Amino acid sequence: MLIKQLSLSNFRNYAHASLDLHPGINILVGENAQGKTNFLEAIELLSTGQSSRTSVESEFIRHGKEKMHIEMHFQARQTDESLALSLFHAEELSHAQTSINEKQKKRTIFVNGVTYSLMKKLRGRLTTVGFNSFDLNLVRGGPGFRRDWIDSVITRLKPSFYEQLSKYQKVIQQRNKLLKSLYENNHLSARDNGELDAWNEQAANYGSTIIYWRYKILQEIIEKAKDYLALISDQNESLSMLYRCRGLIGENNEKEQFASQNFFDTSVFGGSSGEKSYLQNEKDIAQMLLHSLNKRRLEEIVRGQTLSGPHRDDIVFLLNNKEATAFASQGQQRSLVLALKLSELALVKEHLLEPPILLLDDVLAELDLKRQSLLMSQINSDMQTIISTTHVSSFDSALLENAHFYKVKSGTIAVNKNTITTR
Ligand SMILES: Nc1ncnc2c1ncn2[C@@H]1O[C@H](COP(=O)(O)OP(=O)(O)OP(=O)(O)O)[C@@H](O)[C@H]1O
Ligand SMILES: [Mg+2]
Repeated sequence: MLIKQLSLSNFRNYAHASLDLHPGINILVGENAQGKTNFLEAIELLSTGQSSRTSVESEFIRHGKEKMHIEMHFQARQTDESLALSLFHAEELSHAQTSINEKQKKRTIFVNGVTYSLMKKLRGRLTTVGFNSFDLNLVRGGPGFRRDWIDSVITRLKPSFYEQLSKYQKVIQQRNKLLKSLYENNHLSARDNGELDAWNEQAANYGSTIIYWRYKILQEIIEKAKDYLALISDQNESLSMLYRCRGLIGENNEKEQFASQNFFDTSVFGGSSGEKSYLQNEKDIAQMLLHSLNKRRLEEIVRGQTLSGPHRDDIVFLLNNKEATAFASQGQQRSLVLALKLSELALVKEHLLEPPILLLDDVLAELDLKRQSLLMSQINSDMQTIISTTHVSSFDSALLENAHFYKVKSGTIAVNKNTITTR
């Protein structure tokens, strides 16, 4: 895949900017707060319909402006394609187009010139793998970061997974609404029970697919992550992972025991291991989910929320059998995150027919030489790479020799004609 051109109009701190990108390594250099991350964010937004920084769309519009437009021309599957997004502030349109749905008025998506209103239409056409400062949240952050990460990895390998996720989320929203109203009514009729049964079936069906895929892809990730970690750390730390189902109530005594801790852990074994687990079969998972949803019915009504299912699950990383979040040193946590992200990159490369776009937002300079060179060894000329940095002094000279440089300054971006050296 290859991004040929990106144009930004009133996006973040850019008034108007247009840049042709090179197929190989592109390095954006600029001081702090000049627009480097914003540039990469526009690529992320166009390729996934989401930004790692915000879900508030109006934040993308340049302060004081009413409308923004971003547009990307790229090549994928040997075909020239384009993606674009226009956003308006809602109030600008309120009197002119009152009859159209509010959300549709605020944004227009263009996929190869055809217009749509839903962000999801941007997905699945251009695949990126991004490394940025938020990645440390994979170890240090809450369960939501880890769930979003594994879901985003799966979505890139299997775009239809996103549909499963959004269907599941809708079921949980509706089910929670029903639970709350049942609590307010203070009565559970046979009809209510029947309605809950129907939601339980759906939650278990969609939920089991999500857990099944998360577990399956984690099995591929752990094998790679072990190898990367061995390359980064001299101490030969052993890495293992658990998929933690929260709120699950098992049908036999063994699983009841786990339920007393309010979670049920399953080890994630790499592909070569012959170990069997509860999470290798979608039907088994669906049955466990359904059983838990049925058993916790009254508790859920009282609490007004769905207590078991993939929306509450977590991934636990263990270094030398100890939870990395609580016990790993900062250096160990960084190594683990890098190993996980490199595994993500390797996996996406393996599953796609052509290399994805690699986006490195200010991460290289943060790494010591050993970690930096491991990351660099994954950058090759057939994968377009866009790197942002405040300075190139610590960069490997081989990387700099082959790179194309751009200067980012106060919301402008241009080819840097001055030769950049390591000194
Ligand atoms: N909607 C907006 N309108 C105008 N300016 C904005 C908007 N959103 C963000 N900015 C500004 O854009 C500037 C550049 O942000 P960006 O995150 O791209 O910086 P950066 O070059 O990556 O810096 P750093 O090296 O510190 O990461 C910031 O000063 C920020 O306040
Ligand atoms: Mg930045």
